[in-house]
Amino acid sequence: MTGFATLLLLSAVQLATAHFGLEYPEWRDNTLSAGANSNYSQWEWPCAGVPPNTGNRTDWPLTGGSVKLDLHHKWTYIFINLGIGANVSNFNVSLTNPFWNSTGNGTLCVPKLTLPSNLPIDDGTLASIQVVTIGETGNALYNCADITFRSSANALSGDDCKTSDGITYQNVTAAAQEQKSAASSSPAANTAVLSAVGLVTLLFVFGMSA
Ligand SMILES: *[C@@H]1O[C@H](CO)[C@@H](O)[C@H](O)[C@H]1NC(C)=O
Ligand SMILES: *[C@@H]1O[C@H](CO)[C@@H](O)[C@H](O)[C@H]1NC(C)=O
Ligand SMILES: *[C@@H]1O[C@H](CO)[C@@H](O)[C@H](O)[C@H]1NC(C)=O
Ligand SMILES: *[C@@H]1O[C@H](CO)[C@@H](O)[C@H](O)[C@H]1NC(C)=O
Ligand SMILES: *[C@@H]1O[C@H](CO)[C@@H](O)[C@H](O)[C@H]1NC(C)=O
Ligand SMILES: *[C@@H]1O[C@H](CO)[C@@H](O)[C@H](O)[C@H]1NC(C)=O
Ligand SMILES: *[C@@H]1O[C@H](CO)[C@@H](O)[C@H](O)[C@H]1NC(C)=O
Repeated sequence: MTGFATLLLLSAVQLATAHFGLEYPEWRDNTLSAGANSNYSQWEWPCAGVPPNTGNRTDWPLTGGSVKLDLHHKWTYIFINLGIGANVSNFNVSLTNPFWNSTGNGTLCVPKLTLPSNLPIDDGTLASIQVVTIGETGNALYNCADITFRSSANALSGDDCKTSDGITYQNVTAAAQEQKSAASSSPAANTAVLSAVGLVTLLFVFGMSA
């Protein structure tokens, strides 16, 4: 194998392992597999280049439903946002406040996301969900799913919502950061993490998607 071919192969492997899958609600389209539409890129805001209504719309409970991700990173920050409408490109409702830090690769299934109160939704309201993962260096990956809020829809449970062994997630809060800084012999490093998270939050979650 030539050096160039090796490099190509390596970058393909790199790409395949760095991206993530949105298994539930069903993503607008597969942005991960080799056969994915060549216009798609998970680096692309807001939905990896997949237009609304490309795929199947999932019925999702009015009181908040499940999200199931296929993660390939050692750890990643996860932000899940909601946009209301039939053709959403503005995901201005946060469903992960605070956002998460997930550790491990494999399936992460969260049975029920909590919705903010007083959302203008009803049985039959169309909406879309955006999942953003952000790595250590602040680079963001995107996937979206189109949903219909339904009073008859149920959250996933049991075998349908199994998280792989070794996968955990926790809320990222300022308090957690302060504890880490206090315990650390290198507070500067933690301050850097905190401000990187702050910046990333600003840029990718509130700024760019607002
Ligand atoms: C990519 O997008 C262009 C412009 O919208 C379109 O003409 C083309 O058919 C798309 N390619 C695929 C593989 O869907
Ligand atoms: C929508 O669902 C059908 C039936 O399960 C499936 O064959 C199709 O691939 C799905 N569409 C997309 C874009 O994933
Ligand atoms: C959806 O929104 C995009 C941009 O906001 C627009 O270009 C497109 O025409 C809209 N599609 C429909 C079906 O309304
Ligand atoms: C979110 O965006 C929608 C559509 O652009 C707008 O109607 C709504 O007021 C926005 N909500 C918030 C909380 O900014
Ligand atoms: C997120 O988790 C990783 C791996 O466990 C850890 O190194 C990192 O410091 C965590 N980030 C925050 C903000 O807690
Ligand atoms: C998770 O990562 C480990 C170590 O890098 C690897 O051996 C394993 O195959 C990965 N599992 C998945 C589901 O990607
Ligand atoms: C994370 O925060 C949310 C909202 O405050 C809370 O409902 C949830 O229980 C917290 N999760 C963990 C693992 O602490």
